[in-house]
Amino acid sequence: MKIPDDIRRDIPLTGEVIYFDNTATSLTPRPVIEAMDEYYLKYRANVHRGVHRLSQMATQKYEESRKIVADFIGAKFEEIVFTKNTSESLNLAALGLEGVFRKGDRIVTTPYEHHSDLLPWQRLAEKLGLKLEFIKGDDEGNLDLADAEKKIKGAKLVAIQHVSNALGVIHEVEELGKMAKEEGAIFVVDAAQSVGHMEVDVNRLHADFLAFSGHKGPLGPTGIGVLYIREEFFDVFEPPFIGGGTIEDVELCCYTLTEPPERFEAGTPNIGGAIGLAAGIEYIQKIGLERIEKQEHRLVKRTTGGLTELEVPWYGPRNLKKHAGVVSFNVPPLHPHDVAAVLDDHNIMVRSGHHCALPVMKKLGINGTVRASFHVYNSLDEVETFLGVMEELVKSLR
Ligand code: ALA
Repeated sequence: MKIPDDIRRDIPLTGEVIYFDNTATSLTPRPVIEAMDEYYLKYRANVHRGVHRLSQMATQKYEESRKIVADFIGAKFEEIVFTKNTSESLNLAALGLEGVFRKGDRIVTTPYEHHSDLLPWQRLAEKLGLKLEFIKGDDEGNLDLADAEKKIKGAKLVAIQHVSNALGVIHEVEELGKMAKEEGAIFVVDAAQSVGHMEVDVNRLHADFLAFSGHKGPLGPTGIGVLYIREEFFDVFEPPFIGGGTIEDVELCCYTLTEPPERFEAGTPNIGGAIGLAAGIEYIQKIGLERIEKQEHRLVKRTTGGLTELEVPWYGPRNLKKHAGVVSFNVPPLHPHDVAAVLDDHNIMVRSGHHCALPVMKKLGINGTVRASFHVYNSLDEVETFLGVMEELVKSLR
């Protein structure tokens, strides 16, 4: 498949707008829309709750979707729990793990996490009397691995983002996971910005828990996410929500929970969402992750190069091998929202503001950034158009 022309034909809105807001949510390929349409038009029924044929078919497709997700990240079928999004997955992880902590235990994370991978641990630390520690890092987002090693020693849990949504930095999760494993610490990976953009394998990363959303990298719909739970944790992980679908048996006095993954999915799930997510993953697999990475790298290289020529300050690692398809920048003295509004006037969609990562903005001493974030369907032509608008804007300020 030639990148990105053939792909762009599959993606509504490409050609109408320049969509550079893929870190917030991605556009949806037609095969994903069609897979969901098929569910709603042809076999709309609940799962695990009926012997009639529509329910059987919905159950089969829903569980096939789980298998597609599991294979995509190197997990076992029963280790995949469908959630609403990354935030719900990480909250679920924190709540379900409450029982494994003792007062004074340490949780280690980084100063670059977005709120989803920070607030649940902050609340857990406050509730249980745990210590929250942050691995040192520089203003580009690079982690100090010697400091990481020191802090991970004796930690109970380590929670790290794979890719920063604010700075675009790709962290050394594999190495950090190894450190966590050597210390017997639980390793949680926030893969919200990596799944669907680069290879993510739970075993290679040594992840015990891994969270991501369907609507970003995997090109699925909104409202569906995943929490990977390593099998070894099934017995200690206490499901925060129980009820419909999670039981083996119920008496008036008491209940017995069923096996995972159903044990961790209370109530009717987002069936159409799971089917759409699987279709998104299949679409990504058809393109190939290597080609996706290559295309995004090309776009980042040209964008950062062009911004440098225009003397527009941009953030994240100068080493572009460590820079995923997310470019944050500012055009002083303009507010990031004003820059985003100018770009919108030229049909270019970017996000501006703190990107749900306020501590990152505070670390850099700024109130926000403008952020251009890419997926495989974005083209170099689009980047040239963007840089042209940026040039005009910068000239108008001088
Ligand atoms: N979805 C949030 C973003 O835009 C976190 O980066």
